[in-house]
Amino acid sequence: MKELCRGIFFAPTVIPAKLCVPGEKKSSFADAIAGGTDGKGELNMLKVQILTDNRTEKRGLLAEHGLSLWIEKDDKVILFDTGQSGVFVHNAKVLGLQLAQVEYIVLSHGHYDHCGGLAYFPQQDKAPKIYLHRDALQKKFAANRSVGSYREVGIPPQTVTQAWLKEALVLNKEPLEIAAGILVSGGIPCSQDGAEQPQGFYLEGANGQFLRDLMLDEQMLIIEDAGELAVFLGCGHPGVSNCLNYVRKLVPGKKIKLLIAGMHLEKVSSLRLEESIRQISELNITKVVPVHCTGLRAMTAIQASLGEHCQLLCAGDQLEI
Ligand SMILES: [Fe+2]
Ligand SMILES: [Fe+2]
Repeated sequence: MKELCRGIFFAPTVIPAKLCVPGEKKSSFADAIAGGTDGKGELNMLKVQILTDNRTEKRGLLAEHGLSLWIEKDDKVILFDTGQSGVFVHNAKVLGLQLAQVEYIVLSHGHYDHCGGLAYFPQQDKAPKIYLHRDALQKKFAANRSVGSYREVGIPPQTVTQAWLKEALVLNKEPLEIAAGILVSGGIPCSQDGAEQPQGFYLEGANGQFLRDLMLDEQMLIIEDAGELAVFLGCGHPGVSNCLNYVRKLVPGKKIKLLIAGMHLEKVSSLRLEESIRQISELNITKVVPVHCTGLRAMTAIQASLGEHCQLLCAGDQLEI
């Protein structure tokens, strides 16, 4: 085991034997889903329940600035992000979901509102594997523009202090198929469109200076279901359309039937918002669910544009595909 600067231990970086690399003839992931599982008597079920979101409308549930999704794919349960606190644990209990069933935890990027809740995940006899981009452990900051200061927004240092959590961590950088038809995208290449690149986030340089953070540690969860794709995106810092373009490179020729995404469109210009919605519309995604940091203005604009293909959900809501 190797020790990181903040006392976090990690398992060796996993170099996947079967990568989905853009430009290669066909990945094992693409191969696997080319055949699909339809008509073979196998399971084909995808169910999503929102555990943590910025909003909730259900009695007894809590909300916070953050995201956590309970995902059932056939016989597997995946937790995508953990919010910033134990809210997801509380909500799972109220909703009757057993966190002991979680086999994989996929953390989208190194911000507190997606990873901070990990410290509250109840210890299990058999720990779930926890996937995180290896650069997500860097110290991260956001600018307080009005006062010219910076605040820490990275993974709180106390998040991964328990031995069982440290041992369960798998740090990746490249695309990684964690189970048949379940892909963690690895880092998303930065958009060529400057307007879509993340603004206002910083890393700490070697001399303590603030360097622009292009959020190259953000990664998506992509699940094949019945020959089509479901895409889960935490904050969409690399730009939602840039992320979707990368999905199409990783898994060419497959329709995206579901996108559940924090899209980080709250403060973008009207022009940028229109352009993002236009690009999402062009993909003919069957169901788009903007959540978390998308922002109410953007959510309502997306719904106005996509109509029945957009669904506004919050903590406690369930979606069966
Ligand atoms: Fe974020
Ligand atoms: Fe976020």
